Amino acid sequence: MTTTSNSSREETLIVHGMTKCHTTSNDLVPPIHMTSTFKFKDQAQAQAIFGGTEEGYLYTRISNPTVDLLQDKIAILEGAKDAVATSSGMAAVASTVMALVKPNENIVSCNAIYGGTFALFNTHLKHLNIGVRFLPPLLSNDKNNIIPLIDDNTRLLYIETPANPTLDIIDIKLWADIAKQHNIPLAVDNTFASPYLQKPILLGADIVIHSTTKYLGGHGDIIGGIIASDSDIISKINEDYVHHFGPCMSPFNAWLILRGIKTLAVRMERHSRSALQIAQWLEKHPKVEHVYYPGLKSHSGHTIASKQMKNFSGVISFELKACMDKNAMEVGKKLINGVKLCTIAVSLGDCETLIQHPASMTHATYSEEELKKAGIAQGLIRLSVGLEHPDDIIEDLEQSLSAV
Ligand SMILES: Cc1ncc(COP(=O)(O)O)c(C=O)c1O
Repeated sequence: MTTTSNSSREETLIVHGMTKCHTTSNDLVPPIHMTSTFKFKDQAQAQAIFGGTEEGYLYTRISNPTVDLLQDKIAILEGAKDAVATSSGMAAVASTVMALVKPNENIVSCNAIYGGTFALFNTHLKHLNIGVRFLPPLLSNDKNNIIPLIDDNTRLLYIETPANPTLDIIDIKLWADIAKQHNIPLAVDNTFASPYLQKPILLGADIVIHSTTKYLGGHGDIIGGIIASDSDIISKINEDYVHHFGPCMSPFNAWLILRGIKTLAVRMERHSRSALQIAQWLEKHPKVEHVYYPGLKSHSGHTIASKQMKNFSGVISFELKACMDKNAMEVGKKLINGVKLCTIAVSLGDCETLIQHPASMTHATYSEEELKKAGIAQGLIRLSVGLEHPDDIIEDLEQSLSAV
């Protein structure tokens, strides 16, 4: 893959790294190819492009120049050979699983994952006779717990790190080594870190998945997803699922994500710096029982996170002391209802600080028992630290905490 820059420095690649741009008008910013179909010179050319003997675009569900630019950019940033963009992060997760795992086969994963992924794995895949074997987060970094879950029908190892919403850190290299020994691909959901902070493929993973809705888009204005891997896996995901089930990305969304990515490095530095400051403040707060942020030395995954991440990103979860009793859920709700600057909303990675209550919102797909197994407390609060001044976020949390 060639890029428009000779530099391999991350910040430069983030701005310049892409391959061909189909424009004849010298635009600095590539135009949006907002078209569903493409014209052919004649029937013979159409036949050649459909038959694969000539390169060219034929229909946007299959490929589109603007979406191609995004796919090239992510492949470059993730150290992958190829990528396929999808209509949402969930479409990226589902396309990967549906292309690589068939009925009577299984996946080995962890149970602290995004609630939508959990619902897909725990409910919908079950209906297709695809099994998922979940490891609780505390057991997920010991090969003696992982290997016994793998059998002859295991077709995919799947992890998310940092995990949503508990910020558990999963050891990518450990899982990648096990995947290699068993000749099974390892997929890593890299949404919480972004390729600027973590590069799973360089640590041995085979597939990287993103909800581009989050840090890659960065501005809370699109839904999208992407899968990066080697060319064989991306071809299989395209041919066995994306092309015919149709979860393709809109060129307009691809263009917005490309625009968002240009500021990824500066945004991730700022999100990480502010999140560390807020996590350290929360940790000292008399009303706070526990803070989950991988940048804190007290976090169980701090050592592994320090090895596999460049910085610790912008999401913090915490529990209040008052949450330790039976009213945990009520206390959590009261805190988020009291904020004024922070916005009560799901999603993360936006410029605005977002606050939410996983047990009743993003992870409402878990039963009480399943929440407990995944280590997601009823009163847990998740904060996606935005780009406001961190002191303003702290003041807002303080005024809300004082009323709890
Ligand atoms: C880690 C993670 N993966 C995947 C998804 C799904 O992405 P989307 O909402 O774009 O479908 C989310 C959504 O919050 C997420 O947090």
